[in-house]
This record gives sequence, structure tokens and C-alpha cells, in this order.
Amino acid sequence: MAEIDLMDRYPRSPRPLEGRASHKLPAMIERARQFGKDYFDGDRLYGYGGYSYHPRFWTETVKRFRDYYRLADDASVLDVGCAKGFMMYDFKKLMPQMTIAGVDVSAYAMEHAIEEMKPFIRIGDAKKLPYADRSFDLVISIHTIHNLPPVECKQALREIQRVTKKHAYVAVDAWQDEEEKKRLLQWNLTALTAMHTDEWKNFFKEAGYQGDYGWFTP
Ligand SMILES: C[S@@+](CC[C@H](N)C(=O)[O-])C[C@H]1O[C@@H](n2cnc3c(N)ncnc32)[C@H](O)[C@@H]1O
Repeated sequence: MAEIDLMDRYPRSPRPLEGRASHKLPAMIERARQFGKDYFDGDRLYGYGGYSYHPRFWTETVKRFRDYYRLADDASVLDVGCAKGFMMYDFKKLMPQMTIAGVDVSAYAMEHAIEEMKPFIRIGDAKKLPYADRSFDLVISIHTIHNLPPVECKQALREIQRVTKKHAYVAVDAWQDEEEKKRLLQWNLTALTAMHTDEWKNFFKEAGYQGDYGWFTP
């Protein structure tokens, strides 16, 4: 189990914290949490404000994962919360012999996924992954499991642990001080489990999660 920022090559985009905080209404949160068109391709106030593929997002990050975990050319990787399959696509481009899979709760994301990745994406919930025990060399979940309430988020961590043969990496909403907490709470729309990094570390232990982890703060 290691704390490591494997998202350090992912480009950071501008985040209008004040704008979102002052407009955030329960109805907006409810719409965002449907993980449909509003969340991915609607107004920035509801989520991404347009979630489109560009190689600059994941190309360097998938290399980072490959190198850090010393993945073999034919390794198998699962992306939990794969959305439109962008990371999957760049992984497969980098390692054509690999086995790639993705799961996401969003039917909208799957319908609008990169065409080549559609056959490898399943609709499903992180809390009950539709794969057998020890199916993948590496299971990755970026900014996804915190969208579940705590009990189910813990279940998702158990599931990730169950389906991996070896490695796992999760990135979750977290803060290390009051300033980060303020920023995160201003920005957060969909997360139901967000905590101090120390609390997350305990949470991982309680779940029996043995993989690696990193934090997201806007
Ligand atoms: C912030 S997005 C991250 C997408 C992608 N991992 C990335 O980093 O670009 C969160 C994703 O989690 C998915 N999601 C939310 N709750 C989920 C759940 N319970 N199980 C699986 N996926 C979920 C959403 O549909 C969305 O695609």
C-alpha cells in the first residue's frame, strides 16, 4: 500500500470554484449525480462541461501506470468508472497486446464512448463488479468510488481488491488541511464520501484494501 500521485502528468484544467459554489443547488446535485448528459456534456456547473477525447489527457498517465507497475505487454487492466473509455483507449494504444476492460454506472457515457472501446465497457456498479476474483493484473479507479456513500464505497474497495491479482490504484477526493477542504467542498457536486487523507487511510485498512492511492483536490 503506497500513497503516490500517479495522476501527476494529467493536465489540470481551470476550476471556477466560486462560480460553482454560489450556483450549487440540491436540484443541480441531483442532476449531476445521474451521470448523464448534464454531467458529462452539459454546462460546467453540472460537471465536466464537455467530456471529449484528447490524447493530451491520458497519454502520459497511462505510461506512468505502465512504468510504475512494470506491466507486461499482455497485462490485463480494469478501469472502474471508465466513463467514455478514454483512459482505456490510450492504454490499448500504448500496449496493443493488453487486455483492457472498463465498467461504469453511466449508460450515457457508454453510449458516447470511443467506438473502439465500446465492446470492452460494461455498465455496472463499483460496489458489485461484474468480474471473477483475481481477473486483472491492475485495477484502476480514478475519481469514482467517492461517489458512493461510505458503506458502499468500502464495498467498492473490497471489490477492487477481490478482482485484482496484484495491483490496484484509486484516486479519491480528499483534503490535507482546512484550505483544501474548503476548495473541495466548494467544487464537489457528486461525491458522498470525502475525507481527510488520514481518515481515508484508516478507511482503506478497514476495507482490507491493499492497493495504492492518491488524492484529488481541486
Ligand atoms: C469524475 S468521473 C471520472 C471518470 C474517469 N475515471 C476520469 O478520470 O476521467 C466519475 C465517473 O464515475 C462513474 N460512477 C459514478 N458512480 C459510479 C459507481 N457507483 N460505479 C461505477 N461508476 C460510477 C461516473 O459515471 C463517471 O464516469
